[in-house]
Amino acid sequence: MVQDLLVIGTGISGLTFAIKVAEQNPNYSITLISKSDINEGNTRYAQGGIAVVRNLKKDSTEKHIEDTLQAGDGACDPEVVKFVVEEANQRLNELIHWGMEFDKNKEKLHLGIEGGHSEKRIVHYKDQTGKQIQQALNAKVKTFPNITLLENHTLVDLITDHHAPVKKNRCYGAYVISQEQEEIVKISSKITVLSTGGAGSLYAYSTNPSIATGDGLGAAYRAKVQMERLPFVQFHPTALRDKVKGNVFLITEAVRGVGGKLCTAEQEEFMLSEDPRGALAPRDIVARGIQKQINKQKEKFVWLDGSSIPKKQWKSEFPNIYKTCLSIGIQLPEDPIPVVPAAHYFCGGIKVNHHSESQLKGLYAIGECSATGLHGANRLASNSLLEALVFAHRAALDCLKALQKPLPSDAFYKALPQWDGEGYSKKNTLDEVPVLRKKLQEIMTRSVGIFKSTQSLQQAEEKINDIYLEVHQFYNQNKLTNDLCELRNMVSIAYLIIKQAQELNENKGVFYNHDYA
Ligand code: SIN
Repeated sequence: MVQDLLVIGTGISGLTFAIKVAEQNPNYSITLISKSDINEGNTRYAQGGIAVVRNLKKDSTEKHIEDTLQAGDGACDPEVVKFVVEEANQRLNELIHWGMEFDKNKEKLHLGIEGGHSEKRIVHYKDQTGKQIQQALNAKVKTFPNITLLENHTLVDLITDHHAPVKKNRCYGAYVISQEQEEIVKISSKITVLSTGGAGSLYAYSTNPSIATGDGLGAAYRAKVQMERLPFVQFHPTALRDKVKGNVFLITEAVRGVGGKLCTAEQEEFMLSEDPRGALAPRDIVARGIQKQINKQKEKFVWLDGSSIPKKQWKSEFPNIYKTCLSIGIQLPEDPIPVVPAAHYFCGGIKVNHHSESQLKGLYAIGECSATGLHGANRLASNSLLEALVFAHRAALDCLKALQKPLPSDAFYKALPQWDGEGYSKKNTLDEVPVLRKKLQEIMTRSVGIFKSTQSLQQAEEKINDIYLEVHQFYNQNKLTNDLCELRNMVSIAYLIIKQAQELNENKGVFYNHDYA
């Protein structure tokens, strides 16, 4: 049966979108798919919060707009920045209405501050805002009988004119793996929404979960959908140096917002010599400052000194960081935390309009996989969850209108072919896939990281191209596995990042090539 809407990805943007459409029209059939379970994705790991102007005595939308433009280093779309900031309170209130709880100070929402913000405006739930949002949205989405949730389903490819007997220049749904049924199924849909997040897993050290492999970006690339600003990969300045249970652990910027200092082994606060805002400068500046420091010293990390933050505050505002640090022998506030930058967020992605529609009719992109123009060359902290809420709302309104217009007939969708090619195998029969994934991460980290050069990009291009050819051959000769699907996307996006980086001729925001310094 043809679906009205297919939403791929179950983080804040996908869930908000699905809820909004379902609230407006209980008759539309909405299929929501998640590669793992509904919880796993970048949203769950967001610590900081949502940037919203609440304290009108001190703050204003003008100030938030200015901070966003400044952080974006002259590359934001000012019109987008304006409407996102202006619509923030309405979207936040809806989220609260759906059951999300934020920390309060008496009756008012508690406001934190992070790098690049001139005022306190980050609403949050302790240091686990994303997890709390995810839980609230999960509960809400399950109340709609017209939303079908399919967990453990992997996007393989979008269905486009390439597959259609008659060309209508649209997206018609997607081929997805049903991991349980061990088959590749066709989901035809009048509208397809990618909310698949970024691709932090391209890098050896990333705050993203390992499933962040750019699946939506890869599928959009193969469908020849326009993408922009892919080389603008933001590194979070402060991830814990030691992995915890195999995962990179983020130390939210909010810790620096309440007095955490960045120091060398000699206890020197080095960020003030990089920028007058010190440790609270925008993220690109702080991440570069830390990496510079790391490159010139023997120890491959710097210290985050939180000794000025009382223990009580650590425990009440940052309980998860407090507990996690303790689990690896770091006693806060006395002990400093060893930190390093880690790949965190894709500022670029699928180019979309003000309603999140891509250049392919019927295909929308929301959240981190999209390039809306909000972030420019460097995203302002806590603007990403805000962007997801605002664009999910706009996309939902646009889709509701689009579904009223004439669309291809049910017979047309029915005639779209089933997946053509080898099927799916749960077993990973290719030993080379994890080896190539690791190799790709090493290349990207070494040559396409915070600091790049024309030569490093050239070397990376050649090596990534070799991996691309191998992956292409595996893809043509073997049954698909999840790992192979992910690697196929990772290698395409790595290649695109490098090619787009080679076309840039100046340093801006998070993009830094030594040869243009
Ligand atoms: C953080 O809490 O530092 C991360 C928030 C964000 O990425 O905006």
